Amino acid sequence: MIPGRIPLIIDTDTAQDDCVALLLGLLDDRADLRAITMVAGNVGFDRQVLNANLTLSVADRLGEVPVYLGCRRPLVRDWVSAENVHGDGAGGLEMDTTGLEPSTDHAVDVLIAMAAASPGELTIVCIGPLTNIALATIKDPRFVGNVKALYIMGGSNNARGNITAAAEYNFYVDPDAAKTVFAAGFEIVVVPWAPLTLNDAVFSRDQLAELATINTPLAKFFTRIIDATLAFDESVGIAGSTHPDSLTAAVLLHPELIVAEGRYAVEIETASELTRGYSAMSWGVHGLTPNATVVEAVDAAAFAALITRLLSLETVPSRAISVGRITQHPVPA
Ligand code: RIB
Ligand code: CA
Repeated sequence: MIPGRIPLIIDTDTAQDDCVALLLGLLDDRADLRAITMVAGNVGFDRQVLNANLTLSVADRLGEVPVYLGCRRPLVRDWVSAENVHGDGAGGLEMDTTGLEPSTDHAVDVLIAMAAASPGELTIVCIGPLTNIALATIKDPRFVGNVKALYIMGGSNNARGNITAAAEYNFYVDPDAAKTVFAAGFEIVVVPWAPLTLNDAVFSRDQLAELATINTPLAKFFTRIIDATLAFDESVGIAGSTHPDSLTAAVLLHPELIVAEGRYAVEIETASELTRGYSAMSWGVHGLTPNATVVEAVDAAAFAALITRLLSLETVPSRAISVGRITQHPVPA
């Protein structure tokens, strides 16, 4: 426990912007990141674990924050990859992982135990499919009451999806888990894909060019890992790289970023294949009881400035990070 800081766990399908969310958890002076829990999502599970260790390394926090392995597939459905969007999720970066064998404790059990050990204190930033969170809820009904809040990246607020017209990826991949979590009674804050992310968390090529001039290992890492997703985003008409995961961590740590939010009744579609994972967000005129706060707008410039400050931090990577045979960062003495 670090007095004055926000104790959190990040549950992630580590690829691209998930890495940026992890950097906020690791390096923001308001964050007390207790653990990283891995869930099946964006890219191959073992690659996600490497991406998390690469991120810990570039932040020079390798070995300081534990990584726990969770569910390797959704509750009911088959895994759906987003490798077409993210490539391997870290721009082909590699690292020696000798000695980094993860704990054998399952992430779901760790989530339950850590929440029980600090009832009402831990916030979980959920930036992947909600499989681990749903399973913890099913396994131990006390989990809901022990968790202070869930900050969930997912869904869209009466707006377009991204993996289908109706659904955003995290809720599409495991709609049954999302349905379970939103019905369980958690304190929930939602950072949706649309309109919020598309309005306030897209970095243009000009902004990215500016970030690329920052001469730090963090900025070089960022520039490398966002490449694949930038190409995909532009191919579907988005004018830059999208940052929903880092925005989710940012609004927890810096709530002053939030310009507008509202109370909504959020329910997830699981029956229809056409609209699987659709997040019905009722804004209070349909007689439904609200179960979540949905962020509607943030200060985009202040969010971009926060990420710029983050990437400007000087770190000495714990281990050399390489692309193929080219070592990007010297091995620290
Ligand atoms: O739909 C956006 C979500 O899925 C984010 O968590 C991002 O990681 C993407 O893969
Ligand atoms: Ca994610």
